[in-house]
Amino acid sequence: MTTSKTTAQSLVKDMALAPQGKLKLDWVKAHMPLLNIMEEQFRRDQPFAGKRVAICLHLEAKTAYLAQVIHAGGAEVAICGSNPLSTQDDVAAALADSGVTVYAWHGTTEDEYKMLVNKTLDFMPDAVIDDGGDLVATLHSERPEQAKAIIGGCEETTTGIVRLKALAADGVLQFPMIAVNDAYCKYLFDNRYGTGQSVWDGINRTTNLVVAGKTVVVVGYGWCGKGVAMRAKGLGAQVVVTEIDPIKAIEAYMDGFTVLPMKEAAKQGDVFITVTGNTSVIAGEAFDHMKDGAVMCNAGHFDIEISKPDLAARAKGIRTVRTNIEEYAMADGRRLYLLAGGRLVNLAAGDGHPVEVMDLTFALQVLSLKYVVENGAELPADVLSVPEELDKYTAKLRLETLGIHIDTLTPEQEAYLKSWSH
Ligand code: ADE
Repeated sequence: MTTSKTTAQSLVKDMALAPQGKLKLDWVKAHMPLLNIMEEQFRRDQPFAGKRVAICLHLEAKTAYLAQVIHAGGAEVAICGSNPLSTQDDVAAALADSGVTVYAWHGTTEDEYKMLVNKTLDFMPDAVIDDGGDLVATLHSERPEQAKAIIGGCEETTTGIVRLKALAADGVLQFPMIAVNDAYCKYLFDNRYGTGQSVWDGINRTTNLVVAGKTVVVVGYGWCGKGVAMRAKGLGAQVVVTEIDPIKAIEAYMDGFTVLPMKEAAKQGDVFITVTGNTSVIAGEAFDHMKDGAVMCNAGHFDIEISKPDLAARAKGIRTVRTNIEEYAMADGRRLYLLAGGRLVNLAAGDGHPVEVMDLTFALQVLSLKYVVENGAELPADVLSVPEELDKYTAKLRLETLGIHIDTLTPEQEAYLKSWSH
């Protein structure tokens, strides 16, 4: 792959793409009012003055704006992509052109991906923002001395938090990490409505097939699975949910969906969407039971949810039949289709979550980053919640920008809620 250097450091695909990327940035900036507010405040108050921030996120336009807002707050910023297929080269070029150091291009090999993560850490950050845990895992496994000097950071997604909790459980996590994913203003909106919409956007623009009347199997009924299932229903599908958690299975049942084990669901599905964060949730014999023409995709962070080795082992041929669609020809004549190589379909074959949803998420990210930079020295080296007041503040700002007013408690109601003697 050829990269063209821009600033002293950046490595991107082609700087000539910058004007196109800038147009994408302009579009999102016009629809991210919370980040607009943060940018203005940060430009004035310089909360990150003198700090270096390393970011590993899906590098599309909303993320580029986040990086610019942190840069506007006084930080030197370096960024890499958090998935080989989610970086948009035009956006990366535009961002590099704006003073942020960018180490990213679309379609990196595994080795290139690791190299770019390490380059981002060579930047010697004081704080990190991660999506999936690759910066933090690399710091702890390959750069333990550097890890000790980090003030703290923020994690964007469920998978990253699982990894962080494993580090904390082993007693080796070296700095405080704020679990942005677990804040109300994140998972209720981003995981549910964001994933719900963007996954279908990715599937529909990739396949151009009808959804109404089909059977859609949603594998995993966490907040992302709930969103995907809800939107599948809205598009007219019959929805089947598979789960391993009995409580989530009841939720799915009471939300009106059919709950089945994978062995049964495999026979019924026309479209399969994995959203579990776990490995091999569609694997082995499940592929033997699927109908001819079944379409599979993943919306979890890593491309391990649909077992590509098991699928390939059963295939007598694999070919690309359309951009982002691989056909696996089974020995018995059935054809199974995998979208975006099993990488998260909403980002590898789409633009990620809708802009306004990421505005909420990234407002929480910058507020959490500011909190950890300002308070990191006093915080324990653990996985920490976003402070409740930041979550509420983000929600209030969003309502304000929407022009929505809500009621407040009367003094009588406040007294009632504090009393036990009624
Ligand atoms: N855009 C940037 N980061 C994203 C994420 N984690 N999920 C969906 N869209 C995104």
